[in-house]
Amino acid sequence: MVQAWYMDDSTEDQRKPHHLQPEQPVSLEQLKAVGVHSFSLDADRYESDPELAKIRQENNYTWMDIITIHKDTLPNYEEKLKIFYEEHLHLDDEIRYILEGSGYFDVRDKEDRWIRIFMQKGDMITLPAGIYHRFTLDENNYVKAMRLFVGDPVWTPYNRPADNFEAREKYVQFLTQTV
Ligand code: LAC
Ligand code: NI
Repeated sequence: MVQAWYMDDSTEDQRKPHHLQPEQPVSLEQLKAVGVHSFSLDADRYESDPELAKIRQENNYTWMDIITIHKDTLPNYEEKLKIFYEEHLHLDDEIRYILEGSGYFDVRDKEDRWIRIFMQKGDMITLPAGIYHRFTLDENNYVKAMRLFVGDPVWTPYNRPADNFEAREKYVQFLTQTV
């Protein structure tokens, strides 16, 4: 299961956990309230996993690829990591499934506080279109992840502020309806 917590606001190394003192955990229910859904799967059998197939079918995640983020495998590694950690949104859902390694997805809650979501092997999350978020590797500096998409992928990040997109307006509307 993914673990999540509210972040401190220190500017220290982004790859550190950034727990508050005392720690302030965030439950899966609280994640749902901001539109983030998570699944726990068996990453050792992702190539023939009926549970994964079911999730893909039910949500129409027709497209997928596998990305390895490591300094030796990802072209323009440093530059890409910088882009991933800029606060941004997309006009479509962002769906990630961790096959090896780990990393942090940070998302904004309703009060604009950062929630840090620790994702490791077997964890899948969906970030709704319009949510402000960012990604970083942790101190292990390695992740292999499946990226899923409904139809042909569009990865365009819109850095904050990006409040005038319909996807953003819809998401803000969604937030007013959850507790
Ligand atoms: C992305 C993640 C890093 O946009 O948020 O691919
Ligand atoms: Ni993104």
